[in-house]
Amino acid sequence: MPQKNQPITVAITGASGFIYGLRLLQFLLNENFLVDLILSKTAFKVSQLESNLNLPADNLIESKKQILNYLNLINNKSLNLWSESNLAASISSGSYRSQGMIIIPCSMGCLGRIANGISDDLITRSADVCLKERNKLILVARETPLNTIHLQNMLTLSQLGAIILPAMPAFYQQPKTINDLIDFVVGKTLDSFGIEHKLFNRWTDPKKQVENVSSMKRKSENAD
Ligand SMILES: Cc1cc2nc3c(=O)[nH]c(=O)nc-3n(C[C@H](O)[C@H](O)[C@H](O)COP(=O)(O)O)c2cc1C
Repeated sequence: MPQKNQPITVAITGASGFIYGLRLLQFLLNENFLVDLILSKTAFKVSQLESNLNLPADNLIESKKQILNYLNLINNKSLNLWSESNLAASISSGSYRSQGMIIIPCSMGCLGRIANGISDDLITRSADVCLKERNKLILVARETPLNTIHLQNMLTLSQLGAIILPAMPAFYQQPKTINDLIDFVVGKTLDSFGIEHKLFNRWTDPKKQVENVSSMKRKSENAD
């Protein structure tokens, strides 16, 4: 079970779906987890295109303020925002006690670099550290369709123990809003990390639901 006093690394890359990263961040901070956050250069660009945020990539203090403000968590003290180019950051070392890393959304470029051991920025280096330390690493991959290189890279990472979690919402929980679809993907990510949540309704066999209701009815009739 993940500990609240031990940090989790979250990286947001330049794949579509910046909102997935924000929603995960909001959940973790609301639940009092410590979070080390890294945004790739392209993530800053995608954030402008996909949200109302205008995060300055060259001013991390301002970017962090804007993110916390957007999440209604302005007084939160549990977030560290790191520069992608800061290879001397604590999270780049295997001696740092991180509980693991979630890359959400994860671009095919980032996934490919990690699969091939190219640790040339803080995101890929931190992921490389997770693999070598046998720590949790979840990649919420976003691309469609997938080419053979993407699939081979995913296989390599899966064989190394990483979890490939495609940003693929399901429909059996009957989503009503875009937020329901986002929460499904974020909820599945939390499941893979072992963090409890109630972001979506879990599947129960409709027949069992009917049986449960009938047995509850029978019990209450017997009680009468
Ligand atoms: C608006 C926008 C959307 C993008 N969506 C995706 C995507 O869904 N998946 C993907 O693999 N790359 C996508 N890209 C391309 C990546 O951003 C690009 O390959 C980049 O080099 C990834 O770098 P990063 O992993 O360091 O963020 C998108 C780019 C832009 C500008």
